Formats: sequence, C-alpha cells, structure tokens
Amino acid sequence: MIAVDVSVNGRRYREEVEPRLLLSDFIRHRLGLTGTHVGCEHGVCGACTVRLDGVAVRSCLLLAAQVDDAEIVTVEGLAGAGELTALQQAFRRHHALQCGFCTPGILIAAEDLLAREGAPTRDEIVDMLSGQLCRCTGYTAIVDAIAEVAGT
Ligand code: FES
Ligand code: FES
Repeated sequence: MIAVDVSVNGRRYREEVEPRLLLSDFIRHRLGLTGTHVGCEHGVCGACTVRLDGVAVRSCLLLAAQVDDAEIVTVEGLAGAGELTALQQAFRRHHALQCGFCTPGILIAAEDLLAREGAPTRDEIVDMLSGQLCRCTGYTAIVDAIAEVAGT
C-alpha cells in the first residue's frame, strides 16, 4: 500500500491506496465524489476530467498513488457555498445538458480553457470540446454557454 496525502476541493485526505488504483476510482469510490464520471476508462471520452494542480487531466489515466501532495478540484468543488459558477448558470440557461453524464468533465475542461485563455473564440471552444464526448446535445448549446461566459 502507498500513502497518499491529497487535497480535494479544499479538504485534506490521508489515505492508503493500492499501487494499481486509478485516480478516477479513488475519487468516486474511496472519497465518494461521484460527480466525476467514468465512461471509456482509457482517456477518450473526457467524462472523468478533474483539475490537478491547476490543470485539467483525465483521472482515468492517472493512478491515485501519483497525486500525493497534489491539489485536486472535482465538479463538486466548482460551486462555492451553494452558489453555481457563472459557467454552470450559463449551462442551465442554454440547456447545455440532457442526461448530464458528460457535463462534469466538460465544466472542468471549460473552466480550464477560460482560466488559460480568458476569452476563447468559438473555434477554440470547439477545439477544446473535441476532447469531451457528449452523446446528447449536439454541442451547440454547450458552445453557446461557454462562449457567453467568455464574452465571445
Ligand atoms: Fe476517462 Fe473516458 S473515463 S477519458
Ligand atoms: Fe448526455 Fe452529454 S448531456 S452525454
């Protein structure tokens, strides 16, 4: 077993993990944060995206043992004190989700894009979404929601 000391959504966790435990399974099953979804489990769908030390990553491609001393933000950590973020509110206004399976990963990836680029163009938003699979929406409403927050 490997000792992991990690901050998730501002809360400190000290856990012992098996070397083979995926970060996505650690977040969902050990920490009970089931907002992070698992689709493909091999880095294609983006449903498992979380922020790791400020960067959006696929949690199914990492091991829990790799995140010792790291800071992670999952979808549960986006909204503070019950107040939805501007992006979450835009998703609601634009009906940018149907089943919502892809939504946690897309919110994290979009927040990452907005943090890096400030005001990404629609083309940049579409490019980012090429790494996030949604089977329901056709993407237009998702692009509209992100573009509204970007002001582009
Ligand atoms: Fe990680 Fe699909 S579950 S990318
Ligand atoms: Fe259903 Fe995206 S809203 S997969």
